[in-house]
Amino acid sequence: MTLRPSRWSPVVAALHWINAALILGLLGQGWLMTHAAFEAGTTFDLYQQHKSFGFVVLALTAIRLAARARSAAPPPVAGWEGQLARAVQALFYLVTVLAIGAGWLLVSTSPLPIPTRFFGLFVVPDIAAPDAGVFAGAVSAHRIAVYAIAALVALHVAGTLKHHVVDRDDTLRRITFGRARARRA
Ligand code: HEM
Repeated sequence: MTLRPSRWSPVVAALHWINAALILGLLGQGWLMTHAAFEAGTTFDLYQQHKSFGFVVLALTAIRLAARARSAAPPPVAGWEGQLARAVQALFYLVTVLAIGAGWLLVSTSPLPIPTRFFGLFVVPDIAAPDAGVFAGAVSAHRIAVYAIAALVALHVAGTLKHHVVDRDDTLRRITFGRARARRA
């Protein structure tokens, strides 16, 4: 018999909620900056902020994966719902990294090279030379990946709410803060 904590560690939970807020913010801000008609200076600032926060999400995702691997995990959710939840979470990590990689590639290969200044502190190096064909592909890949993230967010939130409101179980509490009790796995 293995004993497991009833919830994730506070570090893993904090990284989950910070990344969730940043990704939701990036989805809204990314949509606004590409669809609304702002002044040129405002659009420029929004793009720079978007790229900087995108790199913050990349760093936090790496830290979160490392923190997850080092912390004791709560018992896995059983049955097909658990399998679906785990598949959605794995896809989240994959698509997030793909979205950020495609974003980095598109700003690197843009025929209109504009340096990415990380919150105005330093220039993020490009990962490829300007190339109109690669740029067009990377723009599409970024768009597909970010809308896949939006769909996964909807699925993830719907599943969590179903557990919390309909089944009234502890699924949501596993990723909230509080005292962890030992559980049999
Ligand atoms: C998880 C992280 C990210 C999310 C959720 C996100 C989200 C978005 C969204 C929703 C759009 C608008 C898509 C459309 O309707 O055309 C967008 C566009 C854009 N993103 Fe991101 N983004 C992320 C990371 C990044 C990163 C790391 C970079 C660059 C380093 C980047 C650069 C851009 C650029 C330049 C555009 C405009 C593309 C165009 O002109 O069509 N993004 N992003």
